[in-house]
Amino acid sequence: MTKVAEAARAFDVARVREDFPILRELVHGRPLVYLDSANTTQKPLAVLEALDTYYRHQNSNIHRATHLLGERATEAFERTRTKLQRFVNARDRAEIVLTKGCTESINLVAQSWARTHLTPGDEVLVTWMEHHSNIVPWQIVCEQTGATLKAAPITDRGELDVEAFERLLSERTKLVAIIHVSNALGTINPVARLIAQARAAGALVLVDGAQAVPHLPVDVQALDCDFYAFSGHKMYGPTGTGVLYGRRALLEAMPPYQGGGDMIASVTFEKTEYNVLPHKFEAGTPNIAGVVGLGAAVDYLAGLDRAAVLAHEEALLDEATARVRELAGVTLIGDAAARASVLSFVVEGVHPHDIGTVLDAEGVAVRTGQHCAQPVMDRYGVPATVRASFGVYNTHEDVDALVRGLEKVREVFG
Ligand SMILES: Cc1ncc(COP(=O)(O)O)c(C=O)c1O
Repeated sequence: MTKVAEAARAFDVARVREDFPILRELVHGRPLVYLDSANTTQKPLAVLEALDTYYRHQNSNIHRATHLLGERATEAFERTRTKLQRFVNARDRAEIVLTKGCTESINLVAQSWARTHLTPGDEVLVTWMEHHSNIVPWQIVCEQTGATLKAAPITDRGELDVEAFERLLSERTKLVAIIHVSNALGTINPVARLIAQARAAGALVLVDGAQAVPHLPVDVQALDCDFYAFSGHKMYGPTGTGVLYGRRALLEAMPPYQGGGDMIASVTFEKTEYNVLPHKFEAGTPNIAGVVGLGAAVDYLAGLDRAAVLAHEEALLDEATARVRELAGVTLIGDAAARASVLSFVVEGVHPHDIGTVLDAEGVAVRTGQHCAQPVMDRYGVPATVRASFGVYNTHEDVDALVRGLEKVREVFG
């Protein structure tokens, strides 16, 4: 047995499933088979309890109250920042900006850094496999500044065409914004190499890590990226939480993204002094409870053997890929050599939404649609795909249920 297979077998998924109460839910009278973790993950008890404890014992506004609850809430909130700093190995906790999601993190960089640095003739380089949240903010800022958006192509297997990416880099490229793991294809991009190439060309690099952090260890110092954006709710934390890692020197020099309370040091009608990092970028009352819950999610992930989790998820993806590929009329969309969590496919003659409906009736939750990645759909000439995605709690029985559900689709649609 290979080391990976051994690690996968050693992983006690039954034990992990006990941590997720929602997995005992019945849907349409059947046990839930949740294969939609790329959309949002389910939450472990530790996160639910952190939210409950927060509202029962700590609830208050942060950074401003002089009373004990305010102190508790501030400490709990700021503790998450320290946990996140360790989670992605940032040098400094001031480099961790708390946002409401990956989308907001990317918009922050677009409207703060890019809007003040881009000029006509400059270029922003993305790839054809980006999520809309790593395309549209750059289109908006290009429109505002006169810069141009370029996109590096992908191959038929759903891998980035690295040579084409390299050819698109030039002295005009001011920012490269790349997805770490594709939500539509599952492709794991060789981000370390792409970052090195971009930096050699003199560009800054933002990595969209929304689909990477739940699966892969991420070290922003080793990657040497300038910005790394991700969401809390895709890594077992609450919705409405997100993170932007940014190099301190860059964040220091960037103007605020939004104005309001907490992001200021002093305000007069003549002049406002901004707060220190990271508060300069955290205007208004944040999702305090959510951030506290995100801290519990970081602890939860850190408490698992992450190599074993990855091996387990890889084994499920390999099995699902092999079995779904064999089914009549199925075409996989994306078959990259390195993939994480995501299996995307179409079935000849049956619309993905109909497949989703039949699977749902069987208790199997998948996502169908464009996955906020319309250029990927256009690249493959399909309107939508069915996407099954795996998380820490999925099992080989879940793969069986998916395959059985797809056989039912065949029966129903002939
Ligand atoms: C790769 C990727 N980037 C960005 C996002 C946006 O994340 P959010 O909606 O949590 O801001 C998603 C969500 O699906 C994603 O998969």
